[in-house]
Amino acid sequence: MTTEIGTDVEKAIAHLRAGNLVAIPTETVYGLAANALDEQAVANIFKAKNRPFFDPLIVHVASISAAKKYVKQMPEEAELLFNTFSPGPLTVLLPKNETISDLVTAASPLVAIRIPSHPLTLQVLNQLNFPLAAPSANPFGYVSPTTASHVFDNLGGKIPYILDGGACEVGLESTIVGLENGKWKLYRQGGIPQEDIEQITGSLGAPEKSPQKEAPGMLDSHYSPKKPLLLGDLTALAHFYQGKRIGFLTFNEPPPSEFQEQVCIILSPDSNLQEAANKLFASLRLLDLSDLDVIVAELVPDEGLGRAINDRLKRASVKRPPFDPAGEEEAAKIPIRN
Ligand code: TXA
Ligand code: MG
Repeated sequence: MTTEIGTDVEKAIAHLRAGNLVAIPTETVYGLAANALDEQAVANIFKAKNRPFFDPLIVHVASISAAKKYVKQMPEEAELLFNTFSPGPLTVLLPKNETISDLVTAASPLVAIRIPSHPLTLQVLNQLNFPLAAPSANPFGYVSPTTASHVFDNLGGKIPYILDGGACEVGLESTIVGLENGKWKLYRQGGIPQEDIEQITGSLGAPEKSPQKEAPGMLDSHYSPKKPLLLGDLTALAHFYQGKRIGFLTFNEPPPSEFQEQVCIILSPDSNLQEAANKLFASLRLLDLSDLDVIVAELVPDEGLGRAINDRLKRASVKRPPFDPAGEEEAAKIPIRN
């Protein structure tokens, strides 16, 4: 199959109406979209991504009134959350009605609903009479795409159309929240800072852990480059990997001067978390494509968007130093993950 990249909203709509897959731009990351009410089309999303069926999909709609067509009820506070943060990087888990199949929710009685803010995708949604199921448009487990060409690199040949809306503004996936026994829980850190949501919901707890309820975005290993990424003290890690080709991913400063020959990406020289979030996935992809043995990265301040950045870095990282020259015992002394 040839994959076309373009800005033609009508073409995207025609493909979606025909039950085909289309990559769509959102303010967070690119999504791999299909008619959420067409089981065959939804099954094809899982296939194209190589995604296990136990990992449910987010359903995208253009408005709160559209969302209400697919849920049993919309609690007042959920509506307030949508009114405050949508269109935008917020996803809310709500009790699904019978229009949404178990395939979309992985048999959960809850469906994840989001109103994305990208103008092209809102145009598409506004003209369709069905919602769009769309996970991030990357192969399962790999780094999410924030440009049309990232999508092409991963899914070229597998889907007919990529709607090109430019680089994603936020660069990190949506924040996911849901009600559990009347209490709001945080299922995934994302583009709306936890602190902002808590202004409405009060303190957000962690969801009860059961294998079925766990959001696979919460899987320990996810968002991972193919090269090993180590997280921790950059100097210690770089000394450990002396003689190897190291790529540095830093928050706001270049690596120590002794390593300045090495490849380095600084996420935000101005220490701006929004800029860092925006550059994170593209930087991981760049480093992954570079001629390196290993990527070393540091955490950013754990506040606001920094929480989501750190969450993705932790999931992208490996827990044990690979090819450790000093052996297991020395490797265990390396201060990984701060
Ligand atoms: O920003 C985003 O949310 C992007 C754009 C494309 O909208 N989408 C996205 O989708 O990140 P995905 O599939 O890569 O991640 C969605 C996460 C998964 O971890 C999934 O398990 C969780 O949402 N999820 C979806 N439906 C759920 C449900 N019914 N219950 C619990 N978790 C759910
Ligand atoms: Mg994803």
